[in-house]
Amino acid sequence: MADARTTHHGSEPIKFAYWVPNVSGGLVISDIEQRTGWDIGYNRKLAQIAEAAGFEYALTQIRFTAGYGAENQHESVAFSHALLAATERLKVIAAILPGPWNPTLAAKQIATINNLTEGRVAINLVSGWFSGEFRAIGEPWLDHDERYRRSEEFIRALRGIWSEDSFTFAGDFYRYRDYALKPKPIDPQPEIFQGGSSRAARDMAARVSDWYFTNGNTPENVAKQVDDVQGKAAAEGRRVKIGVNAFAVARPTEAEARAVVDEIIAKANPEAVNAFGHEVKNAGKASPEGEGNWAKSSFEDLVQYNDGFKTNLIGTPRQIAERILDLKDAGVDLVLLGFLHFQEEVEFFGREVIPLVRALEAEGGRSRAAA
Ligand SMILES: Cc1cc2nc3c(=O)[nH]c(=O)nc-3n(C[C@H](O)[C@H](O)[C@H](O)COP(=O)(O)O)c2cc1C
Repeated sequence: MADARTTHHGSEPIKFAYWVPNVSGGLVISDIEQRTGWDIGYNRKLAQIAEAAGFEYALTQIRFTAGYGAENQHESVAFSHALLAATERLKVIAAILPGPWNPTLAAKQIATINNLTEGRVAINLVSGWFSGEFRAIGEPWLDHDERYRRSEEFIRALRGIWSEDSFTFAGDFYRYRDYALKPKPIDPQPEIFQGGSSRAARDMAARVSDWYFTNGNTPENVAKQVDDVQGKAAAEGRRVKIGVNAFAVARPTEAEARAVVDEIIAKANPEAVNAFGHEVKNAGKASPEGEGNWAKSSFEDLVQYNDGFKTNLIGTPRQIAERILDLKDAGVDLVLLGFLHFQEEVEFFGREVIPLVRALEAEGGRSRAAA
């Protein structure tokens, strides 16, 4: 295995994104008090706080039906545009789910928003884990690797529609003949993120995506994924940027931070967590190799939707900053963050953690700082 720490380390400052709470119930399946709203007023203010705090990106989520503590969900593209209209620099990544969306509609929507916002919109192409919602809306539910075959065609179609004057494409899922989208997005083209960590996800990232988003994990396990993705990307003459999820709990002492996580888990809703755990077996576990998101998640892990406790950004600002440098050493370009009380914790994170990260980066990384 190549050494991820030396071969894939980016020299740019690590970037920060936050999960937009456009879905009710927050980012944990727990009855703990959460001072987080899912309405547009709360979210506009949160986006402005995040922009001022040093966050470069915000990520909206897409769900079409209720489940597992998320009773209400605003649609991702419309919601992303509302946040872009309320901010000046923040880039907003809109989740897009093949099936409900086809590339024609997605290309048109995103090109328009791109033109209206000086190019600040990006997309997160998600391949689906929730078979129940597909059943509810009458969409066929494809096998795991077929979903990725469709997603890859979706991305190739998007890129062709956005860049070619006359686009012709004959895929198994999508077809175009001399299609001319006008207006096109302004350059640079909208960034394409993708979520998932199965073999099919890693292969797709290496071939067509700009960014690979993965669930929470340790630096060692992230480094293994990075090695695989970057090794395959290098064979195609490409480099993929890497984003990892984390649920951050920054408190003045480690004991206070741990106590918050203990309370989240103690107040977890067991039926909802177990039902979610059952449903996500349609993701990584359903892949031919049995790897991928949630393939090895415990009950405690599943209380945070995307395994965010595993990344262990739980402790004092200093501990968190050092662990972020460890992730950077593992090849991570962006940390995607969820919080319990979003507005106040995003502000705290920007004030107390990001400056420490920047100081460690200026000193040349964690190892030198620790020495
Ligand atoms: C950061 C991130 C964000 C995601 N957002 C969504 C989403 O909004 N809607 C959705 O249906 N799936 C979402 N997913 C799930 C993925 O699309 C995918 O179904 C899942 O990660 C399993 O993929 P795997 O089997 O390749 O590991 C997200 C995944 C990640 C890592």
